[in-house]
Amino acid sequence: MPTILAIESSCDETSAAICRDGLVLSNFIATQSVHEQYGGVVPELASRAHMQNIVPVVDKALKEAGCLLSEIDAVAFTQSPGLIGSLLVGGQFARSLALALGKTLIAVHHMQAHVLANLIADSKPSFPFLCLTVSGGHTQIVLCESPTRMKVIGETIDDAAGEAFDKSAKLLGLPYPGGPLIDKYAKQGNPHRFSFPEPQLTGLNFSFSGLKTSILYFLQNAGKSHVYKETFTASEDEKQAFISENLADICASVQHRIITILLNKLKKAAVETGIKDICLAGGVSANSGLRNAFEDLGKKYGWNTFIPAFEYCTDNAGMIAITGYYKFLEGVSDPLSVPTSARAEW
Ligand code: KG4
Ligand code: ZN
Repeated sequence: MPTILAIESSCDETSAAICRDGLVLSNFIATQSVHEQYGGVVPELASRAHMQNIVPVVDKALKEAGCLLSEIDAVAFTQSPGLIGSLLVGGQFARSLALALGKTLIAVHHMQAHVLANLIADSKPSFPFLCLTVSGGHTQIVLCESPTRMKVIGETIDDAAGEAFDKSAKLLGLPYPGGPLIDKYAKQGNPHRFSFPEPQLTGLNFSFSGLKTSILYFLQNAGKSHVYKETFTASEDEKQAFISENLADICASVQHRIITILLNKLKKAAVETGIKDICLAGGVSANSGLRNAFEDLGKKYGWNTFIPAFEYCTDNAGMIAITGYYKFLEGVSDPLSVPTSARAEW
């Protein structure tokens, strides 16, 4: 009955979780509100907030799980990728704790953990499965053959899906992070009112930068054209009036295009691999339009579909704990000298 204590600190959430015998008993997440006023995550402030949060967060995860430090078999932590200062705070804490307790240390790849968040619920995908991981920093289709063997078979060549949502929201004057707001307004809008272009990219890779540019021109022309003009046809006042009169339809149409870009590639990956167990992961899988369209596609093509519970979609230590658990079962034990890195190979 291995018990894993896990720490996640790759960006702006300080999180700790306890997993015993494959069950996540606690998953405590401290969100850093300090970044709101800056419209994005400020790395230096994130590291400082992790320093303040890490001890109480670990304490809360242990208490919530009714677990003592002496009962821990291994300490798992996010090794990469992420903000280097943030990763170092969680990583050094984990290394020190493993050293002090004389327990196994397990370094975890954050993106692999997003995929394995699908193994937390009772209903789990069978191997091999496909996972579309969509977050603020990544957009990937991963072929997962076992908890420790996976490969990226498609990824974005420019912006991530979350960035596409957030940058579109910014163009509409919505605050950061705008993804959840686009989701909210889209519910009242017509997704077919405005048409945005789908990139003509062969293979399984994604691109979102063309969509962003097209939205920019579309707004600067107050909806009259998607193409660049030396002098835009709308004044700033006309542009703002167009946005406020059509916000729901614009949000629904933008969201619809992001979803079709994502799901058309996922469908292609499913056909090419013949795999029918298909998962979503990452913060953008909270998007209600994406969830519904994914489930509909699953029904149409006979897939077994899986989406982690919301708390395991956004950054969380529960996913690090379940990954640490499977690595522990496979005998993984990392030295205290294991490096932390902002970028990571698979
Ligand atoms: O995985 P995540 O929590 O953090 C990382 O990037 O690692 O993902 C955050 C991203 C942000 O871009 C946010 O706008 C987006 O997920 N997001 C959403 C929704 N909820 C979160 N995007 C669209 N609709 C949502 N409901
Ligand atoms: Zn993440």
